[in-house]
Amino acid sequence: MTPESSPGSSPAAAPPADQANSLRQWLRSLPMFPAALPPLDVAALPTTPDELFLRWLREVAAAGQPAARVMTLATRGDDDMPAARNVLLTALDEHGWQFATHASSPKGRALAAHPFAAATYFWPVLGRQVRLTGPVLRLSADAAARDFRERSETARASILVGHQSEVLAAPDAYQAAFDRARNALHDNPALVDPEWAVYALAPERVEFWQGSTTGPQTRALYQRVGASWAISTLYP
Ligand SMILES: Cc1cc2nc3c(=O)[nH]c(=O)nc-3n(C[C@H](O)[C@H](O)[C@H](O)COP(=O)(O)O)c2cc1C
Repeated sequence: MTPESSPGSSPAAAPPADQANSLRQWLRSLPMFPAALPPLDVAALPTTPDELFLRWLREVAAAGQPAARVMTLATRGDDDMPAARNVLLTALDEHGWQFATHASSPKGRALAAHPFAAATYFWPVLGRQVRLTGPVLRLSADAAARDFRERSETARASILVGHQSEVLAAPDAYQAAFDRARNALHDNPALVDPEWAVYALAPERVEFWQGSTTGPQTRALYQRVGASWAISTLYP
């Protein structure tokens, strides 16, 4: 028994101190970034965050960052609790940063009730993070249909199965629903799931964080002011 534990306490609630210490040491030993990271020149920032975001995205993809288009999307979930999950960036245009999902999923329902979100990208290959916050707009049915049709048959069938995040009582039930969806697509290749939706996050704030292994991190913040952007730098 460790000094912290008391009779009757659950062993899982309080791991032995030496275990907790070795976990802390192990966590600190995990590799983070390459030795050399590029600087962010805050004297030469582009006028819009879109431009810097796309420049950074191209650079991290060229540097070998896997899954560079994955963003962690945070919404106000049920009971006002925050909810976060990863989604894929599908486009970036005048509407904002776009992603696609089921309108009937928990995140779709959350966005219908409270159309605001935060998103983060983490690109360790160049020691970078981007954070965005702002309103989210559901784009037109045409935009959703186009996104849906661009996907593979397997992806479209799995979207048609629906029920995202509902309890799956029996794995067989999914396979049967998937097969039905694939058959429906064979019968009607133009089929589009009416629940499929494309959303655009139009940020009010975009923050760029450039890590450094030799000096301070650099942070640049873009805040929307009317049709343009105010740029400032932040203490790291
Ligand atoms: C790398 C990655 C990318 C994902 N991309 C999407 C996506 O683009 N759309 C989507 O609906 N779910 C995507 N998911 C699944 C979501 O993270 C999540 O599990 C699912 O959408 C249910 O979320 P919800 O219950 O909050 O609605 C992705 C998961 C991972 C790990």
